[in-house]
Amino acid sequence: MRIERNLGMNLVRATEAAALRAGRFMGRGDKNAADQAAVDAMRFTLDGVPMDGIVVIGEGEKDEAPMLYTGERIGTGEDPQVDIAVDPVEGTTLLAEGMPGAIAVVAIAERGSLYSWEGIAYMDKLVVGEAASGSVDINAPVKENIHNVAKALRRHVEDITVVVLDRPRHTDLIRQIRETGARIKLILHGDVSAGVMTSVDDPPADMLMGIGGAPEAVITACAMKCLGGDIQCKLWARNDEEQAVITERGLDMTKVYHIDDLVQSDNVFFAATGITPGEFLQGVHYYSGGASTHSVVMRASSGTVRYITSRHRWDKLMRISGVDYVHTDDSDSV
Ligand code: FBP
Repeated sequence: MRIERNLGMNLVRATEAAALRAGRFMGRGDKNAADQAAVDAMRFTLDGVPMDGIVVIGEGEKDEAPMLYTGERIGTGEDPQVDIAVDPVEGTTLLAEGMPGAIAVVAIAERGSLYSWEGIAYMDKLVVGEAASGSVDINAPVKENIHNVAKALRRHVEDITVVVLDRPRHTDLIRQIRETGARIKLILHGDVSAGVMTSVDDPPADMLMGIGGAPEAVITACAMKCLGGDIQCKLWARNDEEQAVITERGLDMTKVYHIDDLVQSDNVFFAATGITPGEFLQGVHYYSGGASTHSVVMRASSGTVRYITSRHRWDKLMRISGVDYVHTDDSDSV
């Protein structure tokens, strides 16, 4: 099915709305309030988009997530029929603690093409940019992959930067990367941004390695479809309970999921807006009477990547959208 190309702009409106609302919670220590504000704004905006969408990667199951839950229908209900992956705040802790790198993200693809990780929490991931695609294998030793990326990029191993989530589970991975001489960028959260950063112009990182969220793997794969990079993943279980879910679903821990397993279509859009200031996108900047946002929107079938800086005026925006972008429920301003 043809997906109208202007749908990308509608997705940016949704990530902008989520960022504008969630940005109010920067550093306020309340992850849930921040997430809820972003979910409400993104849900409200996406619902007006001309599409028949089903949330495949969402905020959780219906019982635990009142909105944007997996299986929820979104949009006006007319064609095109699409799958939706949302992360209204990717990096909720970063946002709540006032740290860089929180973004609002949404991706859509043809109906039935996004892999659903319902109940699966983690995956081991390997992400590289387009120039290094085809030179890595998640089953190969860390050293071999880093050397192959260096060769593909015509650089010394010492010029390669690998992004890794700073977690105890990555102690051995970090040791192995250090032994090669490659540089490491440790991040506290946000491996979608980190994956995307391998594939932007003048990339601040060359590889993402290690275990992160399974839903985030599908969202990253959508971006990689647009940017031309590669992602390979394997299931990973933190404990017996997570292992049991994988076994119950008859999934194979040794299977390598390639980008085309995660997103089985080239009819894909990806949009993101910075919430807190970051290396990938600038954060929301609030000023008298409005705010500015910095977003990216990409489309896999054309390969176009657009960066958008928007200025928003509260008086007009709040009149037409019905969303209060100025106040939060617990603030004491009037
Ligand atoms: P949230 O925004 O949902 O909190 O996810 C942040 C994140 O850092 C992801 O980017 C990453 O994939 C995942 O959490 C890693 O999980 P964990 O913090 O449990 O290691």
